[in-house]
Amino acid sequence: MVEDPRKSMMAQDAFAPIANHYDAIMAHVDYARWLHITTTLGEMLPPGFRHLDAGCGTGVLVKRLAIYGWHSVGLDFSEAMLRVARNRYTLPRLVRGDFRALPFNERFLMITCLFDSLNFLLEEAHFAQAMQSFYDALQPGGLFYFDIVTERMIASHFENTSWTENHGRFRSAWVSTYARQIQTCETRVRINSGDESITYERVYPLSFIQDAVQQAGFSVLAMRDAATWRPPRKNAARIDFVAVKGDADMYRQAFKMADKTIKRG
Ligand SMILES: C[S@@+](CC[C@H](N)C(=O)[O-])C[C@H]1O[C@@H](n2cnc3c(N)ncnc32)[C@H](O)[C@@H]1O
Repeated sequence: MVEDPRKSMMAQDAFAPIANHYDAIMAHVDYARWLHITTTLGEMLPPGFRHLDAGCGTGVLVKRLAIYGWHSVGLDFSEAMLRVARNRYTLPRLVRGDFRALPFNERFLMITCLFDSLNFLLEEAHFAQAMQSFYDALQPGGLFYFDIVTERMIASHFENTSWTENHGRFRSAWVSTYARQIQTCETRVRINSGDESITYERVYPLSFIQDAVQQAGFSVLAMRDAATWRPPRKNAARIDFVAVKGDADMYRQAFKMADKTIKRG
């Protein structure tokens, strides 16, 4: 029997063929927004806290946070992405590991997991395991800021489409296919004539995510449409979550200020 290719995504390090070009391919991405939200949320916590960026990829966020004096740890499953991060940045601690079984003895007061990283978990049980693992890796009162993309995002940009992009020194060719019945999107990316990167992302109903967050023990402090930072409506393409290990009420007052600061941009 041929193994389901989606299951070998991690075994074969699906990001390896694009890792060296990842930052150039993602040059249009608004990392400043994630940085703004992360640092604003961080202001609700005592100074000097431990932070984990899970799914850190090439380390763009941890590098920028280091400029703000954060001592972040970056974790990713892809050795190729971590290699790029290690070659570029000497400051942050970078660790290989899986969301579903985080390899830490220490605990963190804040965890981020951004840019659809959780959508790469293809089974509901894996999503639930990851939530539990993040919960366990946080100190009591810890904050978990993550985002997910919705079916709206996939349907608008990635449903059965192909395109090429010119990045100056190289070209990337993209083929994207969405299987609605399993809510899974396959994305193939080739740099020039190199090997293909084949990744899969699954979209989950909002109600499933809310349940998984709460079943892990978190309480939800905020759920926002990433485009407007308002409560998400049906057309939201990306949703940001801020969850608390403990009673979200402990941050309600502080979050009122943070909420305004984030909305102002
Ligand atoms: C779209 S990239 C985002 C990377 C980074 N957060 C950024 O903003 O550039 C998703 C990352 O999640 C990582 N990832 C996916 N599933 C993972 C898992 N189960 N455990 C650890 N990392 C995972 C991938 O290796 C990849 O680097």
